[in-house]
Amino acid sequence: VNGKIVIPVVVNVLYRTAAENISLAQIQSQIDVLNKDFNALNSDFNQVPAAFSGVKANVGISFELDQVIRKSTTKSSWGTRDAMKKSKQGGINPTSPTTKLNLWVCTIGGGILGYAQFPGGSSATDGVVIDSKYLGTTGTATYPFNLGRTATHEVGHWMNLRHIWGDTTCGNDQVADTPLHNTANYGAPAYPHYSTCTGTPIEMTMNYMDYTDDRAMYMFSEGQKSRMAAVFASGGPRNSFAQ
Ligand code: ARG
Ligand code: ZN
Ligand code: CA
Repeated sequence: VNGKIVIPVVVNVLYRTAAENISLAQIQSQIDVLNKDFNALNSDFNQVPAAFSGVKANVGISFELDQVIRKSTTKSSWGTRDAMKKSKQGGINPTSPTTKLNLWVCTIGGGILGYAQFPGGSSATDGVVIDSKYLGTTGTATYPFNLGRTATHEVGHWMNLRHIWGDTTCGNDQVADTPLHNTANYGAPAYPHYSTCTGTPIEMTMNYMDYTDDRAMYMFSEGQKSRMAAVFASGGPRNSFAQ
């Protein structure tokens, strides 16, 4: 209500090995990336091509590390069915999920970097899961996903953003200022990469909601910013986070 949104972040670390018990420095490096990426302070923001300079956004949402909760486990991988969020399944229940963003850090397995719950779901499972090898920029963070952009992407989902290609060929991400994409892009695409969808637009492959490597994604759009703002606005599904 008073303007600036600051999201307290609870980091839930589930570890079997010493490496999985990531350092506070690695956790803080992820909070720092979120603060940069959501406030147009990322050092690669100036790489956004001129064609998109009119729509590149300063989202204006900040994050602060609230607490770190650590738990030793015997599980070597947690999958994507929310077991890490449930103490009865060996995980950690979320802390104050209607006022704090819960982030679980564990080994997911299956080549999954992270996953998120969209707004409107059960508060018992609300939050974002990031594999410890793809969290932050130091410690166990692993190239080409070692710049903290997995959490930027997943927090985008948590704030109601869809994949930029709309999860189907030339699909709709419900954002007017992002171009049509044929499908997901990977790696670090050369610019310009033309879509073959209606109008053959240049794809916004540098958007956080594509699937490129961390070094190749560095912007949200104004339309994405509006969609995220609506989540925290009066009547929005995460209005309980607004101060
Ligand atoms: N949900 C995606 C996955 O697990 C995350 C993609 C994140 N991309 C990135 N460059 N970090 O595959
Ligand atoms: Zn995604
Ligand atoms: Ca679009």
